Amino acid sequence: MSRPNAAGNGRGDRGDRVPEPPLWEQWAAASAALPQGERLQKVLATRGWGSRRVCEELIAAGRVTVDGEVAVLGRRVDPDVDRVEVDGVPIGTKPGLVYYLLNKPTGVVTTAHDPQGRPTVVQMVPDEPRVYPVGRLDVTTEGLLLLTNDGDLAQRLTHPSHGVEKEYLAEVAGGRVSDGRIRALREGVELEDGMTAPAQVSQPDPGVLRITIHEGRNRQVRRMCEAIGHPVERLVRVRIGTLQDRTLKPGEWRELDQQELKALIESAGARSAPVDS
Ligand code: URA
Repeated sequence: MSRPNAAGNGRGDRGDRVPEPPLWEQWAAASAALPQGERLQKVLATRGWGSRRVCEELIAAGRVTVDGEVAVLGRRVDPDVDRVEVDGVPIGTKPGLVYYLLNKPTGVVTTAHDPQGRPTVVQMVPDEPRVYPVGRLDVTTEGLLLLTNDGDLAQRLTHPSHGVEKEYLAEVAGGRVSDGRIRALREGVELEDGMTAPAQVSQPDPGVLRITIHEGRNRQVRRMCEAIGHPVERLVRVRIGTLQDRTLKPGEWRELDQQELKALIESAGARSAPVDS
């Protein structure tokens, strides 16, 4: 098919014919002219925000933003590049997902059900929707524990490859810990399941260690402290990745806010909470 010439006439005389650009240039121009990305309502529907119709209504109601600007119906987006939010909630976060931060008291077990009938962390938060603890704290360990029904995020947070930092305060027996022993903890100590990875360790008070690790081995901090001859007397987790809260009392819980959730998702190595698509 011939292209229109300068006179807007596809046929034209041989003399005033504009030369055709190379084929690859024609393809590039045609593809640049195509709208890029997927339709917003389709992206939202795929990510669990309701039927396409419902998603169109969300957009029409001005509740959906793309990179901070209210989106219009028919807008195309690339969900891997564009920041799409509904009511300020990133669309990667499926509706129905809940994220609780609990300050676990001592004596409570980190399971959904304890055959010995001891109190469980799951009993300390709302029954519905059903949530599960992310990782585990020993029965005598206190401090921050995340509970969620977002299995993907839970898996990312606990997967060793993502190395999410966990920070603990450990009161240890035997008083002040020597610099040499602190150095040993920092460099790695030999446990029965192998050397520990380098850790951040400081001693804010004599006999109190602040230890940050990114492995999640069973009873790891207790075993590390035992290995240097200072068994743990009290252990409190004070940080999980970006999550901290000094105001939660033992036994109290609260939902994560959007900023916390975003930061946590990023620290778990995902741009947004993975969704079924
Ligand atoms: N390390 C421990 O030894 N116990 C915990 O509960 C958590 C980390």
